[in-house]
Amino acid sequence: MPEPVQRDCNIHSYRCDKANLRRLKQVTDLRLIGQGRTADIFEYSQGKIIKLYKKDFPAEAINQELVVSGLACSLGIRTPEPFGHTQLDGRDGLIFQRISGVSLLSLFIKKPWTIPKYSKLLANLHAEIHTYEAAELNRRQKQVLCEYIQQAPLLTEQEKEKIIRYTEKLPDGNKLCHGDFHPDNVMFDGGYWIVDWMTGMSGNPAGDAARTVILLSVGSMPDGTPAPIKLFVQFLRNKLKAAYIKEYLRVTGHDYSTIDEWILPAAAARLVEWIPKDEKDELLSIIRARLKTLI
Ligand SMILES: Nc1ncnc2c1ncn2[C@@H]1O[C@H](COP(=O)(O)OP(=O)(O)O)[C@@H](O)[C@H]1O
Ligand SMILES: [Mg+2]
Repeated sequence: MPEPVQRDCNIHSYRCDKANLRRLKQVTDLRLIGQGRTADIFEYSQGKIIKLYKKDFPAEAINQELVVSGLACSLGIRTPEPFGHTQLDGRDGLIFQRISGVSLLSLFIKKPWTIPKYSKLLANLHAEIHTYEAAELNRRQKQVLCEYIQQAPLLTEQEKEKIIRYTEKLPDGNKLCHGDFHPDNVMFDGGYWIVDWMTGMSGNPAGDAARTVILLSVGSMPDGTPAPIKLFVQFLRNKLKAAYIKEYLRVTGHDYSTIDEWILPAAAARLVEWIPKDEKDELLSIIRARLKTLI
């Protein structure tokens, strides 16, 4: 298991780098170094980046990311230290310690032969996160899942009701869950760093692992991707998923059935996200196959 690092992550003691803000009046002054679905990542100042959210991104979610990142950091989990909130060009931003490495996803794309090694690392990091208690977090896994399922498009009211009733009966937990743990949210620079804690919550680790299994199982490729490439990517993704599951179960001593029972709500909740139609259809077939087995 990787060793936790002890750091003082007091985000409240941070003062915005005012001199820097005076100099940097607009986004075009900054160099883009990363992009995700919610935000663009820019170089900010020596050793720091700014995660600049899309315009009108909900403030509550940004604050959530600051709070959970601060908690993870203070627990000794290897995550970029959060320094605080600021605004640039009318967009909200959070300032973090800069990591000079690359994401595990880009490493997998460039060097697919590293997949067996780093998928084990992925599983170990996830299992380590799950050793920490996080009862203080407001977001509770089952509550979050049920809210999303309630809003999920493409499901009938009756299907939603059935899945919510099923979810409510699943075993509760109060461990730290990342909520979106996948290879693009882990960076590697010789050491490893877990980023993107916006979806962090307290809950049952098996539910968090089920979300990862869904993310590693279902994913569409852009239209026009040649069939051999699609097959190759699918092959690599299956390898990654199998190695992640095997190692996660080995380290935690759990049985796959504990993760499997969370697949239904994890798949249904994902329907609320901005994902391509093909991916939603794939999720729907997983959901409907499982619904058939419920009494
Ligand atoms: N502290 C950081 N230092 C350097 N690069 C980062 C840092 N945080 C994120 N990145 C890069 O930016 C990408 C997107 O960041 P992330 O926080 O995951 O945003 P999103 O919520 O939009 O997915 C990451 O996959 C990573 O490549
Ligand atoms: Mg991300």
